Amino acid sequence: LVWTASGAALAGLAPMVLANGWNMPVGVTDVSREIHSLHMTIFWICVVIGVIVFGAIFFSLFRYRHSRGHKAAHFHEHTAVEVVWTLIPLLILVAMAVPATATLKSMYDASDAELDVMITGQQWRWRYEYLGEDVAFLSNLATSREAIEGRQAKGEHYLLEVDEPLVLPTGRKVRLLLTSDDVVHSWWVPDLAVKQDAVPGFVNENWVEIDEPGVYRGQCAELCGRNHGFMPAVVRAVEPERFDAWLAERQAAASEAALGLDREWGMAELMEKGEAVYGTICASCHQPDGSGSPPAFPALAGNQALIDDRRRHIETVVNGVAGSAMPAFRGTLNAIELAAVITYERNAWGNDTGDVVQPSA
Ligand code: CUA
Repeated sequence: LVWTASGAALAGLAPMVLANGWNMPVGVTDVSREIHSLHMTIFWICVVIGVIVFGAIFFSLFRYRHSRGHKAAHFHEHTAVEVVWTLIPLLILVAMAVPATATLKSMYDASDAELDVMITGQQWRWRYEYLGEDVAFLSNLATSREAIEGRQAKGEHYLLEVDEPLVLPTGRKVRLLLTSDDVVHSWWVPDLAVKQDAVPGFVNENWVEIDEPGVYRGQCAELCGRNHGFMPAVVRAVEPERFDAWLAERQAAASEAALGLDREWGMAELMEKGEAVYGTICASCHQPDGSGSPPAFPALAGNQALIDDRRRHIETVVNGVAGSAMPAFRGTLNAIELAAVITYERNAWGNDTGDVVQPSA
């Protein structure tokens, strides 16, 4: 009776876990389904082991307890028992390792991809580059601080939005190349069964082929500093035709004329654009009021070196500072955005140099 009761209690936990949405999602790729079924196979093997082991323990505890006059058996060795408890775990491990190895092989076979996307982690956003397609953009957190605090205060579950999700085609194999500009991040989107570290100085590889159009949400999964919890990864999967149209649209928008590289820009429009760029990119380290977080991030407001040396200012923003946390923004920001943010820094917070940096400079 005790055996049956404890076994039933343990076996009862498994459906509870599965029914409460605590399990991993099945996902929308062949690999995610393969990982899910591997996970379930191992899960049920573990449930059976748990029921047998804990059942035997509880059975022995009650059935052979001291108060019923039982005495502990003392013996030194028992070859048959030792062979059994070595062989059974060995067989169980082999039974798990065979499907696990097959799944690992398919997970990391990124060959014959139709599209390569470079994903770069930055404190605290993702940069997506469609290699060979001349399309690249930053994906910033777009949920306001007030909205986050408001929902936290009400104890609500909240989703973090980004300004630009990673757009991927369905039905095409996409190779994901992951790296980082600063510290270790991890790009994790559960429905795609991808959780891959983004390590500075290394490129890690993974791939997806998504079946279903939809929005798939994830999150940076490696503690990476103050705003680690606010570094969402959002993927929007669309039909291949819609993807091609989107890509062509992005390419057209990045052309020189569309950007406005063929004309002179005025102070007012550069300041306006610069303020927006500063607010989403630079302000996280140099503070919205330009006060910085010295000594790691110098103040920009009233920074005489910056005001006096225009060339060095431009070079710092474009090329970054080697050995510091200041990344290069060449490639991340387009020429207009670079010119705008530099003009803004040179004229905001009372710096007032009157210096208009043209995108062509
Ligand atoms: Cu990036 Cu945590």
